[in-house]
Amino acid sequence: MNAQHEVGRRRTFAIISHPDAGKTTLTEKLLLYGGVIQLAGAVKAKRGRSSAVSDWMEMERERGISITTSVLQFPYRGLQLNLLDTPGHADFSEDTYRTLHAVDGAIMLLDSAKGVEAQTRKLFRVCKHRAIPIFTFVNKLDRPGRDPFDLIGEVESVLGIGVYPITWPVFRDGTFAGVYHRLAGRVYLFEALDPDAGKGVGAERPPVEVTGLEDPALAEALGERGYARLKQETELLELAGDGFDKERFLAGELSPMFFGSAVNNFGLEPFLESFCELMPPPGPRATDQGPVSPSQEEFSGFVFKIQANMDKAHRDRIAFVRLCSGRMVRGMKVRHVRSGRDLRLANPTQFLAGERSLVEESFAGDVVGVNDPGLFEIGDTLTGGSTFEFQGIPSFAPEHFARLEMVDPLKRKQFARGLEQLAQEGTVQLYRPPEGRAGDLVLGALGRLQFEVVKFRLEAEYGVQVRLGGAPWQLARWVSREDGAPVDLDRLHDAVEGMVVLDVRGRVVVLFDREWALQTANRLHPEYRFAETATGV
Ligand code: G4P
Repeated sequence: MNAQHEVGRRRTFAIISHPDAGKTTLTEKLLLYGGVIQLAGAVKAKRGRSSAVSDWMEMERERGISITTSVLQFPYRGLQLNLLDTPGHADFSEDTYRTLHAVDGAIMLLDSAKGVEAQTRKLFRVCKHRAIPIFTFVNKLDRPGRDPFDLIGEVESVLGIGVYPITWPVFRDGTFAGVYHRLAGRVYLFEALDPDAGKGVGAERPPVEVTGLEDPALAEALGERGYARLKQETELLELAGDGFDKERFLAGELSPMFFGSAVNNFGLEPFLESFCELMPPPGPRATDQGPVSPSQEEFSGFVFKIQANMDKAHRDRIAFVRLCSGRMVRGMKVRHVRSGRDLRLANPTQFLAGERSLVEESFAGDVVGVNDPGLFEIGDTLTGGSTFEFQGIPSFAPEHFARLEMVDPLKRKQFARGLEQLAQEGTVQLYRPPEGRAGDLVLGALGRLQFEVVKFRLEAEYGVQVRLGGAPWQLARWVSREDGAPVDLDRLHDAVEGMVVLDVRGRVVVLFDREWALQTANRLHPEYRFAETATGV
């Protein structure tokens, strides 16, 4: 098989959104259109996921592997789509951010009534930092929502990215009736649906296509007011800006915007068509020895996520590797660069809608699960023998904190081992007081559920009971000195109103109990840098 051709077909992306915007629905439709599933509702099991921790654990155990790790790989219009799931609800965690380091682009999904919401904003920041191309799909147009111009303004001002609407909503009697494709000059009109039939495949009906804005059939179909509104709005759009600049899109500076209703299949076709046309295949990735091209023959990839089996009986760990160049074949030998060890990839695994299956070969752009012999850490590089390393995946400042106490002091050893392993996997951030200073162990996470996971796993896998206590901290910042000198912990302690701690990699962190304390530290101590993310050792 021609590797070059295979890499050229790969499109590796994620959907970023706030819970309830319709990510599950859109994913389902993608699978449906890709012919992967026959019926809508297959991804829906996920929706029924209860936020109750015990249920979630049960589900994890039943499945053997976390359902939060799904990587959906499926063919679509001659392409191979790799959709990486970004867990959102209660299981929002650092993994969600890390996943965004493994993709080449993202679809930002907005609820038309709600616009840019908190979680979208957080996820967007990671995408923006990586300067990856971002599509915007405004969903739920079938419901009363915000004015489309208003939404454009919000995305531009809140997220700081330019917007170019490629499709534009068309209304009949104030009701969403179709989209105008500005680049193709075509209007797609949808038939009004019976509300009861409005969900799933049964509702899929071919859109009525109208050639252009001047087509008399359009004026007739939309009525006088609908037609006048469309004419007026499209004129405004043309006046407002330049043409669609693909270079700016690829640089992550301009987001093409689309409107529709995922649940009703409205506006999805033109969106997916543009997505397939514009979304780039894997590109070069930076390493400490210069960029690596996906067409390079030697295999390379990096670990972006480690998932331990929740089942005590099968205590395996799976490392998720994003391939960046070459080809991975089952049974091949690879170099784990950080340790310098060679290992054989006996059972590389791929995932489809939550099911795992062995994979014989995969290419740059793909995501493969490999068995972790207890060696991997987030960000580790695997190669065919070379010694370069991909740029590390940053750690992100947690937003929730808890004190951690051991119930049985005799289990100190198991406790330490368990914590080390969990920290290696990147399940939570762990902070301890510097040598010689008293203080509690503090856990930090992006989602509260992570604390329960740690508690559960320490108990189940290491037989260690722990107590989680409240902690007053609200913010964590990694500290470095502007002049590059090492941070003197005592001086820092005296300078800031917060708790000075070290993370598992020995990096200096200050925990603050309110935003104001951080601002004061920033103002009074410009010699320090208080960073929200940290990379490397
Ligand atoms: P999420 O994964 O982003 O959290 O969202 P999900 O797809 O689960 O969608 C959240 C709710 O929004 C669902 O309703 C879903 O049916 C609905 N939805 C998705 N797309 C559209 C749309 O285009 N228009 C409208 N009106 N609703 C949409 P639910 O009542 O929570 O679930 P269900 O019982 O309908 O499945």
